[in-house]
Amino acid sequence: MLIHSASQLLTLAGGPQRGHALGTLGIIEKGAVVVRDEKIVAVGASDELKNAYPDEPTLDASSCVLMPGFVDPHTHLIWAGDRANEFEMKMGGMDYLDILAAGGGIISTVKATRMASMETLIAQTRPRLLRMFAHGTTTAEAKTGYGLQTSTELRLLKALIALDDESPLDLAITFLGAHAIAPEYKGNPQGYTDEVVNTMLPMLKEWWETHAPRLPLPFVDVFCEAKAFDLEQSRQVLTQARALGFPLKIHADEFANIGGASLAAELGAASADHLVMTSDADIAALGKSDTVAVSLPCTPFGLAECHYTPARKLIEADAILALATDCNPGTTWNESMQFVIALACRAMKLTPAEAIAATTINSAHAIRRADTIGSIEVGKQADMLILSVPDYRQVGYRYGTNLVKQVIKRGRVYSVDVGYYRTA
Ligand code: NIG
Ligand code: FE
Repeated sequence: MLIHSASQLLTLAGGPQRGHALGTLGIIEKGAVVVRDEKIVAVGASDELKNAYPDEPTLDASSCVLMPGFVDPHTHLIWAGDRANEFEMKMGGMDYLDILAAGGGIISTVKATRMASMETLIAQTRPRLLRMFAHGTTTAEAKTGYGLQTSTELRLLKALIALDDESPLDLAITFLGAHAIAPEYKGNPQGYTDEVVNTMLPMLKEWWETHAPRLPLPFVDVFCEAKAFDLEQSRQVLTQARALGFPLKIHADEFANIGGASLAAELGAASADHLVMTSDADIAALGKSDTVAVSLPCTPFGLAECHYTPARKLIEADAILALATDCNPGTTWNESMQFVIALACRAMKLTPAEAIAATTINSAHAIRRADTIGSIEVGKQADMLILSVPDYRQVGYRYGTNLVKQVIKRGRVYSVDVGYYRTA
């Protein structure tokens, strides 16, 4: 298939974009891409590729931006129930961490999730995944973490593997058994940390090798926060995970600065995520590392808080900046990377070009898949978007509606545009 005449083809070619290199879109005007099977086989000017591939079936992208599919590198995609009641409480003035300490928050979703069957979990997660796909996310990271006990965490892993198999969207799976202190260990965070380190992680290794040997090992993540896992407990979780061969992620500095970002850099984690209260020393550590700084601006937005990731400081420090939704039932239920871009531009002063690079090639690197996705380059997986706008700056400028016209996933074209009325 020859996709041609795109008013702007954004290639994002050249690998992850560090520091001030962020925002290198690699624009080809009147651009074209040739796709065969699941891969990109040619990228260039429409005239040239039409001549070189005269017999190829065509797809006209005139007046449209053609760009890589969004990669969402941080989601808590799978859970049961909702927390609309807590949203109302938070908007009435209650604090997120106080709700958690009172047995609500993450723990209330844990209760609902533990009671849900595998079928229920899949049925409730599927529409979220499909909405993400319709909004242009072609690969998403997805964490467990609403089980906090071996049996339910395993059910979440199985459900995520099943959803990855059935849906066009690809999932990169993360084990977040250390998402909160399990209710059975209330008041004994070290006890639950020991359970994760000594029982859950070795069990995960064995289970994965037996049940999912064809899939890459999952990431292991920890909620490093004063009221969850402190720095020492986070270190214990991540050190054990690393010893077992798992790639690492961390939730750091969402509410308080306790050193999680530097820990991530020290341990060679793939990413450190949230980074709202991050200190200058932590920013410098990220800037010198290959740990991607993943900012989640929808989280403070969702909580109606005014502190956002110091994104310009991270860029200045030469860090690799990426963006994600953090989609979850508590702090931010948002499925659209387009909205993330709109918010990142306004709240963190990113340019539209920087935000696009942070949601494609850099977010692919945050899940260590930048060698196969995140840009439009020969040999890469054909994961692309045709947007119903002619200029990339419309992304971010416009928000609240879907600018995606077609999603191309592994070379297959999915239409999502609503350009007409239909009566029943
Ligand atoms: O990334 N911080 C921890 N985890 C989620 C929130 C999860 C929840 O409230 O259910 C986050 O914001
Ligand atoms: Fe999160």
